[in-house]
Amino acid sequence: MEVLVTGGAGYVGSILVPELLERGHGVRVLDNLTYGQDSLISCFWNRSFGFIKGDVRDKGAVRQAVDGVDMIIHLAAIVGAPACRTDPKLAHEVNYVGTANVNEARSSSQGLVFASTGSNYGAVEGLCTEETPLNPLSVYAETKAAAESLLVQGGNVVDYRFATAFGLSPRVRLDLMVNDFVFQAVKNGFLLLYERHFRRTFIHVRDMAASLIHAIEHFEAMKDEVYNVGSEGLNYTKEEVARAIQRKVDYQIYFADIGADPDRRDYAVSYAKIRKAGFEPAIGLDEGIDELVGGYAMITVRNPYANVQR
Ligand SMILES: NC(=O)c1ccc[n+]([C@@H]2O[C@H](COP(=O)([O-])OP(=O)(O)OC[C@H]3O[C@@H](n4cnc5c(N)ncnc54)[C@H](O)[C@@H]3O)[C@@H](O)[C@H]2O)c1
Repeated sequence: MEVLVTGGAGYVGSILVPELLERGHGVRVLDNLTYGQDSLISCFWNRSFGFIKGDVRDKGAVRQAVDGVDMIIHLAAIVGAPACRTDPKLAHEVNYVGTANVNEARSSSQGLVFASTGSNYGAVEGLCTEETPLNPLSVYAETKAAAESLLVQGGNVVDYRFATAFGLSPRVRLDLMVNDFVFQAVKNGFLLLYERHFRRTFIHVRDMAASLIHAIEHFEAMKDEVYNVGSEGLNYTKEEVARAIQRKVDYQIYFADIGADPDRRDYAVSYAKIRKAGFEPAIGLDEGIDELVGGYAMITVRNPYANVQR
């Protein structure tokens, strides 16, 4: 099928797009390259790939991108609590108004898969299910929850509330918790850990991409429902993540009572519904840590004031 991926040059998109092409789908990407990324450069050889450099806030660009596709995977966003807190107006315009633009431009026959987030649940006792009331604690979660509600009202949508991703992608993100912890362990030799008992839930970026492909390929059976996407086996406290890394990397963890994550999430999630719909993540935390440790050998963040670069 012909698939539009908004935000397709991002961390998730640049794993997803080559996979879609590999499976024989035609792919068009709409992305404004916020981070100057060239993450899809290796896709241009493929005649089934098309790229529009454009903004989801621009209704004309969105209409052009949506025209003629069978399915839309909507990833474009300002992602994460810190990025949205830095510019809440931009976060609202991209995450909410941009989503409204995509929704308005599509016809009733064009299905849409939305990358929402488990951040929408906030801090919750016990296990969240899709029925747990939303309690967004950041601008990021507020804008994603509002966008999700708009789309669900419109129908013909699969709404995915993702766990936090980890793993490598052509657009590397070091601001994700597992990716960041491994980076600090490998490059600094220590991690200052606060809020050690906060519970979080994770998914490998390749499993995110696989779940999105599952949604477009099983759209009729899955549509008009919300799904938590992740695995109970990947519900961990921050301390458990840090300890899992310590089994593979020789580094020090310093526990601190100071400091707070701008992302106030503290929650664990049930993934029974997505499992029933036929999707289950395949990649565990240990494999992800190995991949990150290996890949970080290719990444140096230069400190101009240090005599030695790690
Ligand atoms: N990575 C995660 O842990 C995670 C978890 C839950 C949900 N999600 C959701 O998945 C989606 C993809 O996340 P990601 O991790 O790939 O983030 P990312 O920041 O790497 O990708 C976002 C992409 O959107 C593009 N973009 C930003 N503003 C745009 C605009 N105005 N117009 C067009 N393109 C624009 C960026 O250039 C980028 O390529 C997002 O919707 C995010 O909310 C991600």
